[in-house]
Amino acid sequence: MKTKWASISIVGMGYVGICTAATFASRGIRTIGIDIDQARVEQIRRGKAPLHEPQLDSMLKNVVRKKLLDATSDISVAVHTDVTFLTVGTPSQPDGSIDLSYIKNATEDLGNLLREKRGYHLVVVKSTVVPGTTNGVVKRFLEQSSRKTIGSELGLCANPEFLKEGTAISDALHPDKIVIGSDDKKSASELAKLYRRFYGAQLPPVILTSPEAAELVKYASNAFLATKVSFINTIANIAEQIPGVDVGTIAEAIGLDPRIGGLFLKAGPGYGGSCLRKDLQALINYSQNKNYDPILFRATEEANEQQANRVVDMAEKLLGSLSSKRVAVLGLAFKKDTDDIREAASIRVINQLKNRGARVVAYDPMAIPNTRRHLSEQIDYADNVQSALKGADCAIIMTEWDQFRQLAAKDFQAYMNNTNIVDARRILDPKHYAHLNYVTIGMGPSIA
Ligand SMILES: NC(=O)c1ccc[n+]([C@@H]2O[C@H](COP(=O)([O-])OP(=O)(O)OC[C@H]3O[C@@H](n4cnc5c(N)ncnc54)[C@H](O)[C@@H]3O)[C@@H](O)[C@H]2O)c1
Repeated sequence: MKTKWASISIVGMGYVGICTAATFASRGIRTIGIDIDQARVEQIRRGKAPLHEPQLDSMLKNVVRKKLLDATSDISVAVHTDVTFLTVGTPSQPDGSIDLSYIKNATEDLGNLLREKRGYHLVVVKSTVVPGTTNGVVKRFLEQSSRKTIGSELGLCANPEFLKEGTAISDALHPDKIVIGSDDKKSASELAKLYRRFYGAQLPPVILTSPEAAELVKYASNAFLATKVSFINTIANIAEQIPGVDVGTIAEAIGLDPRIGGLFLKAGPGYGGSCLRKDLQALINYSQNKNYDPILFRATEEANEQQANRVVDMAEKLLGSLSSKRVAVLGLAFKKDTDDIREAASIRVINQLKNRGARVVAYDPMAIPNTRRHLSEQIDYADNVQSALKGADCAIIMTEWDQFRQLAAKDFQAYMNNTNIVDARRILDPKHYAHLNYVTIGMGPSIA
């Protein structure tokens, strides 16, 4: 494979890596993606996205066809590029602390290769890592294995990523900020130069800071978002006790206050996804190791766990007992427009339903293959909404897919055994369901 042409390499072709690679390449910056997963590499080389993300497939096809993006499992090609981004996973360990093994392996492999390189090479940690990781373990591994020191030949930056699954491509093309953390002026200015090339006149605000501060910005951002979700869910649970109150009105009103802001104020079954929970747990663990107990974040997490149980409580209240009842779970992905089920509220709800003796049948337009890998045959899977609803005693809407939003009361009536509906995403119009057993999160009893 010819690789001399690539200017940047990206190690780890998961959500972040592949979207970063595709967008860099779309701006004419020659990019090589590296992953240990050979099947994933082959797919990318064919211009096919290995995961579902709007706009990614067409962008990938285009940049691969134009030879602006290539992929390989051979990390040695990174040496021929100028900048290497690390975008490998940083999952949770069983105690919630961050697992840095992928970061360590990738850094060591890269450092060994950089030993022979003549000329400058910049390494950028884009994965989410706890404060001190870039300047600690990454720097140590990199310097030891390359036998070079950060400075004239080797550069190192922390550069966290803020894209959201479901809008990842547009987020990567139009970020609200770029955060660059480095103790070394040359590293920071080389990375800023690359981003100036990428964004041109549309360069967003660039925050230049220390690696530790850059790393903490990412955790602060996710901790704030998670807390905002648990906050509105708490208000929703209070609203449910008050006749005639709908949390949607409360969220709309408080969201108009610019100090609060309207986004992330949707009451629901709790946050999910690969990042919020994992990052909050890593931050709690990190903080406790520094002898500070962040009680606010522990409460955020606990409220989130309880929210899934509340969804199941709602179903139980409608049905009496869930034992042997057929419950249709509509939606498995942690949010619409993705096939990602990592930490999805649907999984917590399904586990609770099973614990309480329900028979679960699930449907999702995208996420069934991933769910099958995770839950195997513990539940039934339906090919469409109708077959999920067929004979069901209760339906629970767990993902805000547009096709569920378009359902009418008659669609439930036509197939269900009993029309008990729990709208955990608040996507149906309660007015049209008043004649059915319909409940939604954050809605107080109606005033007679
Ligand atoms: N997913 C998101 O929405 C998101 C957003 C912002 C930040 N992040 C952070 O970005 C990082 C990556 O997240 P992700 O969701 O893209 O991860 P992911 O698990 O989807 O992908 C990681 C990829 O890295 C590959 N990999 C692991 N070790 C490797 C090695 N030594 N060499 C080459 N490839 C290797 C894996 O095969 C996998 O394809 C994490 O730290 C995450 O917290 C994720």
